[in-house]
Amino acid sequence: MRAVLKIGGSLLYDDNGQIRIDRLREYADSIKSLVKDGHSLVVVVGGGKPARVFISAARELGANEAQCDWLGIKLARNNAELLCAALGNLAYPKIIDDYDELEVAFNHGKVVLLGGMVPGQSTNAVAAASAELVQADMLFNATNVDGVYDRNPEENGSKKLDTVDITQLREILSSEGIRAGQYNLFDPVAIGIVERSRIPTVIFNGNDPKNLKRVFSKEKIGTRILHNKNE
Ligand code: UTP
Repeated sequence: MRAVLKIGGSLLYDDNGQIRIDRLREYADSIKSLVKDGHSLVVVVGGGKPARVFISAARELGANEAQCDWLGIKLARNNAELLCAALGNLAYPKIIDDYDELEVAFNHGKVVLLGGMVPGQSTNAVAAASAELVQADMLFNATNVDGVYDRNPEENGSKKLDTVDITQLREILSSEGIRAGQYNLFDPVAIGIVERSRIPTVIFNGNDPKNLKRVFSKEKIGTRILHNKNE
């Protein structure tokens, strides 16, 4: 299938902010095997811990929100560079920074990598826009929770949802931040794009790299966003 995979930056750093080389290798190996199985992939990598660290320092030093977003954009691109290195020849050698280029690169038959693109959104919006552009069959979002919860997953009694419709998703995420570095599961731009193009989307836990194979094999893990009550 033709798919866009978003890898949350938080998956690539440990609690001390060190890069998880092992995790990057595991992702690269899984991606290689998916390509071998005939899948075409665009991979969007998030900013993770370094984005948060730089953004909070810049904010403290007086940077405005757009300047903070730019830092996040560039740090997400750096993370994409790391995955690019791990993928070697299989990857398109340049991290895409322009959507026109994405379409051209995708037609080269390589794995195409992106980080951030424009201020005011998160890399989830980049993943959604990329899925729209390449007409992806699926958008897979690897994050550090098991999926979408009916309320804050840290709250007692919260429940992971197997499916969620867009209205419910908007409601659940309405308390999310809208400042640089504070978007969590999905930002409003990402939700809008997924909704208008009815992009089949699954949010799943990327801490277990085996989950990547599972979602590509249509195993029912994580949370699937529904666009139609009969799905
Ligand atoms: P993300 O918040 O998307 O990183 O980008 P992430 O690591 O994937 O986040 P998790 O793991 O899903 O929580 C880092 C920051 O970069 C800026 C935003 O400030 C964002 O919070 N950014 C990213 C943009 O401004 N525009 C983009 O297109 C992408």
